Amino acid sequence: MDQHTLKQRAAIAGADYVLTHVPKGAVLGVGTGSTVNVLIDTLVAQKAFERYFRGAVSSSRATTALLESHRIPVFDLNQVDALPLYIDGADEIDPHGQMIKGGGGALTGEKIVAMAAEAFVCIADVSKYVPLLCRFALPVEVIPMACAALSRRFAARGGAPTLRRMPDGAPYLTDYGHQVMDVAGLKMDVPQALERELSAWPGVVTVGLFAQRRADVCLLGTPEGVRTITCTKPHA
Ligand code: 5RP
Repeated sequence: MDQHTLKQRAAIAGADYVLTHVPKGAVLGVGTGSTVNVLIDTLVAQKAFERYFRGAVSSSRATTALLESHRIPVFDLNQVDALPLYIDGADEIDPHGQMIKGGGGALTGEKIVAMAAEAFVCIADVSKYVPLLCRFALPVEVIPMACAALSRRFAARGGAPTLRRMPDGAPYLTDYGHQVMDVAGLKMDVPQALERELSAWPGVVTVGLFAQRRADVCLLGTPEGVRTITCTKPHA
């Protein structure tokens, strides 16, 4: 079964989940990526924003554009008092709901909206589910002037950083005008500690580790159907 079909399964389960768990009239926090795009299409087909939700808070310009193309009201996070649930994909997720995110470059908006939400539901195909975070190079959003210094620092920490580039070779820029380094090879056996450490480095805007604010539930698209994982607290 191809990955897109598995993402579709997770996204359809995600639509069911939000319709059954988010109170009527609430605003929904919406992530970024191809799985989320299917979720949005599914919610639109079910007229969820006309019938149930007041609108959405978006994690990126790309998601805002898609939501607005469907005439879904998009609220600034500052206008919203309560966000019962945030739903998003992941590049890797472990059984504790700790994730690597930012493959699509939207990690800063994603982390802000996730932090503001009461619950985080991850929708992903089964290839993203790993016992330990390790394979996916860690996206780190950085202030451009810090790139060379941070590269050296990541290398000294055992990582192999690469500056993310556009197909024409120009550096990739985030919604906030920053650059992204994809850092392979870092040991991530204590993700919360690594997230805390790297987040404190000057020039780092956002680390694509979502361990301090991890997912509460993961809906995994598998060839056998959708697996619902209630994420367990990591050992201290
Ligand atoms: C974007 C993300 C996405 O959630 C992640 O890359 C997964 O995307 P997809 O659903 O396309 O596999 O973190 O910054």
